[in-house]
Amino acid sequence: MGCRWQDLDSGTMTDASAQPTGATLRRGPFAAGDRVQLTDPKGRLHTITLVAGGQFFTHRGSLQHDDIIGSPDGSTVTNTAGVEYLLLRPLLADYVMSMPRGAAVVYPKDSGQIVQMADIFPGACVVEAGVGSGALSMSLLRAVGDGGRLYSFERREDFADIARANVRDFFGAEHPAWRVEVGDLVEALPRTVERGTVDRVVLDMLAPWECLDVVADALIPGGVLICYVATATQLSRVAEDMRDHGGFTEPSAWESLVRGWHLEGLAVRPEHRMHGHTGFLVTARRLAPGVTPPLRKRRPAKGAYGEAGDGAESPALSTQEWNPEDVGERPVSEKKIRKMRRAATVAQQEDERDE
Ligand SMILES: C[S@@+](CC[C@H](N)C(=O)[O-])C[C@H]1O[C@@H](n2cnc3c(N)ncnc32)[C@H](O)[C@@H]1O
Repeated sequence: MGCRWQDLDSGTMTDASAQPTGATLRRGPFAAGDRVQLTDPKGRLHTITLVAGGQFFTHRGSLQHDDIIGSPDGSTVTNTAGVEYLLLRPLLADYVMSMPRGAAVVYPKDSGQIVQMADIFPGACVVEAGVGSGALSMSLLRAVGDGGRLYSFERREDFADIARANVRDFFGAEHPAWRVEVGDLVEALPRTVERGTVDRVVLDMLAPWECLDVVADALIPGGVLICYVATATQLSRVAEDMRDHGGFTEPSAWESLVRGWHLEGLAVRPEHRMHGHTGFLVTARRLAPGVTPPLRKRRPAKGAYGEAGDGAESPALSTQEWNPEDVGERPVSEKKIRKMRRAATVAQQEDERDE
């Protein structure tokens, strides 16, 4: 059942009738196939998928899945050793942090910024690259809804498989708005979407500047491009190339820092640990065809573009090839990726068998 509300004119109660993809998995008593997050008294988290007749073991006792199936979300269960666990359905942010990963994921704090600042709206046509593990894809799919369209491009087939399995597992079905294209965005985008029809483009990749021409062709006038990059050198390069392209408004960039707070009696203070850095966001709007950006009134600081004034001295602006190690990305071994792909696809096959 969906949420209920009272019609102010007639006073009658109404249920939300059409359930968007995945909504039925987000509420109601726990059922076989649901993911449940168990929190022990020390705050340690375990995520399990409920199976009729299944058991959950730790070094301190076990509990039966059947003791959880049928309980309301937000209840507790006690194992054979008397340890009490809090039971909650994982939120999207919890799911993203615990799902199988091939590539690094966009953290929930940044997905929230992307959805808001790129103005991802229900019904929008959005392009995303690369897909990586599919973390950002889930936030984008929720924002465009069943009536929108998300084209996600990924050049690695193995990463695309992991993302497909993660997204299907989260929504409990294929999402009707989602298309995954395996290939490099530069080649695949022009053959996938019609010129000037895409509302929003989100790039999370090593070298987003290589894609600016195809992105500009795909975007509608006024459309939004947002790029998520890990280092200041990438930020600088993509912002300068957006300016040089001439088809975008002046780029604006920021980062977000989220600091948790410790809340205990009088000890109310920031947490000692935080994620000090995830990435930078930079955004610009597509100008209408043939329009040149208005001249900037503010002149760049002397030396901002290198000694020759053309950026040639600056490694950030040079045309050398970039690789993941240059920007400090830790290489992921082929063995780990094979393992993640196996884990993700086995979970998907189990889901399909259970349906
Ligand atoms: C950091 S990961 C993306 C993570 C993803 N946004 C998430 O939240 O799970 C970057 C991905 O971009 C892909 N990639 C890089 N350049 C690409 C391109 N030109 N076209 C398509 N995919 C690309 C890489 O293979 C990699 O999987």
